[in-house]
Formats: sequence, structure tokens, C-alpha cells
Amino acid sequence: MKNDLQEILLTEAEIQTLCQELGREITEAYRGKDLVCVGILKGSVMFMADLIKHIDTHVTIDFMDVSSYHGGTESTGEVQILKDLGASIEGKDILIIEDILETGTTLKSITELLQARRVNSLEIVTLLDKSNRRKADIEAKYVGKKIPDDFVVGYGLDYNENYRNLPYIGTLKEEIYNK
Ligand code: IMP
Ligand code: MG
Repeated sequence: MKNDLQEILLTEAEIQTLCQELGREITEAYRGKDLVCVGILKGSVMFMADLIKHIDTHVTIDFMDVSSYHGGTESTGEVQILKDLGASIEGKDILIIEDILETGTTLKSITELLQARRVNSLEIVTLLDKSNRRKADIEAKYVGKKIPDDFVVGYGLDYNENYRNLPYIGTLKEEIYNK
């Protein structure tokens, strides 16, 4: 599968360093608090698993599944809730965990939806940020790395549901898209 990649953007070691740094920052911010980490399925699963090991306060986890993409490499701007949270978040401190923030359409919808549930606080951590693609008025408080406007796969990120299992992140060869 590695042969399908054009270039590796983040190695396993680089990703682990980012998780440690973000975990330290988040620990400082939530010291003594009960934190609810909300992973956005499916892309955030690997990042969430690694990141929360480095958050040293009481943490519970929950998941939401939304679809903003329908198989290709371009966001359609439509968000549909496929799976909602399992418990009430009223009065809680929420940290949304995302793999990548691009146009912001997905996270804008999710944050509006969760804010309406009268949370105490709500912040976003994203491993990757394609900030020059932003359309919605939204930023993540915690960002692993800003990346250029290239389509990337691996470490949870997919192309047609494939490549999520790669332990690193990279770009695909041109010929893969033309298959
Ligand atoms: P947004 O709504 O445009 O910010 O899109 C965010 C979502 O699009 C992410 O949660 C990913 O699922 C997906 N996405 C955006 N860019 C990429 C990419 O380069 N590779 C794989 N998925 C991506
Ligand atoms: Mg996603």
C-alpha cells in the first residue's frame, strides 16, 4: 500500500510528537476538570486514541458520525448526522476531536448543534489544518499542523474509505485517482 503514496507528509514519529505536544497543552487548559472528548467518525479514531493518552485529567469519550463527503476528494458542503452522541452534554466541557479541518463546513454545523445543548465550554482540536481552504467562520483552538491544500490519506484519513490504516500521512500518486 505504501507504493500508492506519492510523498509522506507526516511520519509516525512526527505524529506521536504532535500528540504529545497537544496533550500537554490540553492538560494545562483542563486541569482539574472533567473533559468530554467527542471524536468525529471515522477519520478521528486513530488521532483520538493516541491524543487522549497524553491528556492527564478525567476524560470520557463519545462519538458522532456525520457525512459531508460522498466518496471523492471535494467537500460538498452538506452535512448529515448519521450517529449522535450517546449521552447528554449539558453543562459539560467538550473537546471535539477532528482529523482535518478544511472548509470548516463540517465542524461549523457540529459546533452549532452541540452549543445548542447548553454545554459549559466547547473547543476543537484538529490534527491537520488546511487553513487556506476555509469557507466557514470557524477555527480550531488546538492545531497539530497546518498543511497545504493537497489531498492526504492515512492515520484515519481516507480516499474512498481506503488508507485509514496507514500509520503515517501522505499524498497519493496521480494514477490512483484515475483507476
Ligand atoms: P470540511 O467540512 O471541508 O472542513 O471537511 C472536513 C472533512 O473532510 C474531514 O473531517 C475529512 O473527513 C474530510 N477531508 C478534508 N480534507 C481531506 C483530505 O485531504 N483527505 C481526506 N479527507 C479529507
Ligand atoms: Mg472526517
